[in-house]
Parts: sequence; C-alpha cells; structure tokens
Amino acid sequence: HQEFTMTIERTFSIIKPDAVAKNVVGEIQSRFEKAGLRIIASKMIRLTPEIAGKFYEVHKARPFYNDLCSYMSSGPVVVQVLEGDGAVLKNRDIMGATNPKDAAPGTIRADFAESIDANAVHGSDAPETAAQEIAFFFSGTELCDRP
Ligand code: TYD
Repeated sequence: HQEFTMTIERTFSIIKPDAVAKNVVGEIQSRFEKAGLRIIASKMIRLTPEIAGKFYEVHKARPFYNDLCSYMSSGPVVVQVLEGDGAVLKNRDIMGATNPKDAAPGTIRADFAESIDANAVHGSDAPETAAQEIAFFFSGTELCDRP
C-alpha cells in the first residue's frame, strides 16, 4: 500500500513595517492559518539598522541593500515561525512574487504590499535558510511545539 508522508517543516516569516503600519497583522496571520500553517512563535520587535543589515547580509552587494536595511528598521515588524506541511514553499506561494505588480491575485503581496521594497512580508526561500533565520531571531525555548 501507499504511505502518505507529511513533511512537517518550519519557515521564518516577517510582517514588514508597511504591513504593521497598515494594521493588517491579523489579516496576514489569518492567511497563514487558513493555508494550514501554524504560528509556533511570534513577537513584535523594532529592528536596528545594524540588525537588519546582518539579517540581509546575503544582499550586501545589491544596489537596494542600504534602502532595504533602513526600511526594515523604519518601524516595528512581527517576526514569526510557521510550521506545517511543506511550510517553506507554501509560505512563498501565499506571499506572492517579490514585486507586488507581479504577484498573483489573492496573494499577500498582491493584496497588501505597496511596492517592491515595501512588500509586506519576508519568507525564507529554503529549509536551510529557514533554520538560520529562525535561529537569528528565536531561542529554542521560544518555539512552541504543536499541540
Ligand atoms: P529577494 O530575496 O530577491 O526577494 P524575496 O523577499 O521575495 O525573497 O529580496 C529581498 C528583499 O529585498 C525583497 O523582499 C525586497 C528587497 N528588494 C528591493 O527592495 N528591490 C529589489 O529590486 C529586489 C529584488 C528586492
């Protein structure tokens, strides 16, 4: 017989300053939950430009790096860990394309993002980066196991 195997994964997500300012934190979190992702850690914090710079170090050589770091420290953000079947890809799907102009209808970025730089959410692009990004913001005891 065929066994149905679930790949329970964790991914890291940020609700960015533009979405927090728009007061759509709950609406965005609701989309994660409706997609079957469980929020197993969540906190609202204000990044310093230095912390934002460290988090986005991989983009250091890109022309948008400095603007990205000042934008990400311009207001509070919600950092969170999402868990569920294929969480990394599922989250990328419901986020939509980086540029909201290219994002599919019904995605978070299509509905809430302002522009390519103020694009409402961050989501890890692979399980390995997810693990690094989770460890960057959360200690092990802050991650709550599924009930
Ligand atoms: P990237 O990793 O390419 O996109 P994603 O967030 O979809 O994984 O880029 C990281 C962030 O950098 C992106 O969310 C917004 C910012 N950015 C810009 O401001 N301008 C750009 O041209 C690009 C490509 C990204």
